[in-house]
Amino acid sequence: MIPIANPDLGQPEIEKVSAVIDSGMVAAGSTVEEFETAFAEYCETDHAAATSNGTTALHAAIEALDLGAGDRVVTTPFSYIASSNTIRLAGAEPVFADIDPTTFNVDPEAVREIVENQEVDALLVVHLYGLPCDMAELNEIASEHDIPLIEDCAQAHGATYNGKPVGSFGDAGCFSFYPTKNMTTGEGGMILTDREDVVTHAESFANHGRPPEGGYEHIRVGHNFRMTNIAAAIGLAQLEKLPEFLADRRQNAEQLTAGIDDNIVDLPSVPEDRTHAYHQYTVRTDARDALLEHLHEHEVGAKIYYPKCIHQQPAYDSDKYESECPVAEQAANEVLSLPVHPNLSDENIESIINAVNSFEAGV
Ligand SMILES: Cc1ncc(COP(=O)(O)O)c(C=O)c1O
Repeated sequence: MIPIANPDLGQPEIEKVSAVIDSGMVAAGSTVEEFETAFAEYCETDHAAATSNGTTALHAAIEALDLGAGDRVVTTPFSYIASSNTIRLAGAEPVFADIDPTTFNVDPEAVREIVENQEVDALLVVHLYGLPCDMAELNEIASEHDIPLIEDCAQAHGATYNGKPVGSFGDAGCFSFYPTKNMTTGEGGMILTDREDVVTHAESFANHGRPPEGGYEHIRVGHNFRMTNIAAAIGLAQLEKLPEFLADRRQNAEQLTAGIDDNIVDLPSVPEDRTHAYHQYTVRTDARDALLEHLHEHEVGAKIYYPKCIHQQPAYDSDKYESECPVAEQAANEVLSLPVHPNLSDENIESIINAVNSFEAGV
């Protein structure tokens, strides 16, 4: 089976991890700081705070923006559940805005409709599959209403909007380094921001409420969301490879687009003002479940991200989360992601193209 993800780890990661082990400083420390500086530089932000994973990055960012009980955060219903769970974990409530049917990202018009007619305290947008949201529109809505904007960049390392990297548009940009992502640290996360107050608060929350100078004075209730030097060492090696990973993902996506018959599935489309990081190469068809079965029979490890919207999940089965999001609900029934990762061979890509093109809906 051609896997949907295949992390590329090797000698550079081994050497950097060995150096950390040799130093004996395996928990948080200077390697984490080095990774924070390098990642902030890559994404063109002033500050970074590393965390234990992407979920904790989002949670700490939401806390750092002082969002909590009674606050309402407009977000997408079509995402990995962490983007909404973290709003609830901080004590606030997600309010779901429908998505755009071609980009799969939150529709700025749907966001505007909610923000102009309801009490809203923040926006949390997700660059799904690695394609940036319409940041000009979303930033405008946030600044018109003077509310903070959080970017969930868990799937979008290296994607750009008008030439600027994701993670640099909002009050905070949150990344995941889970092994299936465009780069990994094993488990890991990062908050990027230009706001010193946000990075200071996030770091404190992620370190049991300690102040920047450390010690045993706890100025707020917090968690242990810290990244280890071992994870950061892997991250430093992966960050060096990220431009090559992205080039390979984009080249693979181009080949898939050139080869797959668009009478069988709708292919990804990328607005001219953005670059796609192709965390996923996602097609859509109303014969999705049959196509999935066909691809698995042909040894292609296609997967559905995500078969249900967040407001349709059992954990969200409450009147509070009842939502009118027909576009997102239809997408959840029709999307299918094909392998696009950097370790695909030309032969793999040909097999994926042939497998899709040999599908006959209804047969
Ligand atoms: C959109 C999105 N947000 C948040 C997360 C959470 O990241 P992590 O799994 O590192 O906690 C993920 C990871 O799958 C994700 O895809």
